[in-house]
Amino acid sequence: MKQTEEHLPLKEVRAPVKEVRAPLKEDQASLEEDRVPLQENQANLEEDQAPLKELDEWDDFVATRYRQGKSEEEFRNYKADANPTVTEFYRQNHKYQTLDFVLKKKAEYCGLNRGQKSIWEMAEYLNTLVDDSDPDTDVTQIEHLLQTAEAIRKDGHPRWFILAGFLHDLGKVLCLYGEPQWAVVGDTFPAGCAYSEQVVFPEFFAANPDSGKPEYQTQYGMYEPNCGLDNVHLSFGHDEYIYRVTEKYLPEEAQYMLRYHSFYAAHRHGAYRHLMNEHDEAMFEWVRKFNPYDLYSKGRERPNTKEILPYYQELVSEFFPDKIDW
Ligand SMILES: [Fe+2]
Ligand SMILES: [Fe+2]
Repeated sequence: MKQTEEHLPLKEVRAPVKEVRAPLKEDQASLEEDRVPLQENQANLEEDQAPLKELDEWDDFVATRYRQGKSEEEFRNYKADANPTVTEFYRQNHKYQTLDFVLKKKAEYCGLNRGQKSIWEMAEYLNTLVDDSDPDTDVTQIEHLLQTAEAIRKDGHPRWFILAGFLHDLGKVLCLYGEPQWAVVGDTFPAGCAYSEQVVFPEFFAANPDSGKPEYQTQYGMYEPNCGLDNVHLSFGHDEYIYRVTEKYLPEEAQYMLRYHSFYAAHRHGAYRHLMNEHDEAMFEWVRKFNPYDLYSKGRERPNTKEILPYYQELVSEFFPDKIDW
């Protein structure tokens, strides 16, 4: 993964944002510094080097896994769609996402103490995440966000729903903070209780140290029956981070969309209902409503960023102050 200055479609059209950016110079300098540990981290991984060429490889796998028109039986044959790098990615994800790890990362990031930035600054920052992908065929991170949001807009959904589409993957900046791929993307699952067979590659959980802790391997583990997902620690990643950053500005339906969009075992396969309460059940309707836009908007034509950006600038300003805590 390398970073580049080239993928900044917002540059020309973001004059109003630019003016307020001057005080951020220092912040950005500190972000530059933050990139250094990324390489160190990865070097330390040795045999567990980042397996995906690009983060989107995981998204592409999920989209293929749930390709429209597939039967339940075909969904269960997901291994046919998983190439060796995706398989290796899941091996690492399931091995390292322990309850301790999740709690550590929540403590590190969910206090939102990495400084204030606007949504647009973070979107541009995320767009510097460019992998060894083909710029002619692969959409940028911002293009994926806009494609998702535009598909929602075309279907006439409320403004907060469109906004959720635009925001949903901004948490992938975790990757730029130096987090390994397995701590940023991947299907999420509860830590601290038995793993469901409905999570992809469940066999890889055998290597997770929590598998050796009997108190975490009962159906409920550390949780109470139907305690509600807010009391459950899902594996850490971009969902939880963007939920935390945006929660106080968005309606609850949108919060659920952001927080659980990668929790496929639950929203696609009905797993972990014993941990959900009635409110979760009701709200998951919205998570399910959101999912197809995330999965299937990629094949559409590239969004005309310049043309639609003013709409999104207004939409973001309607819900967010200029700067928020990250
Ligand atoms: Fe996502
Ligand atoms: Fe996405």
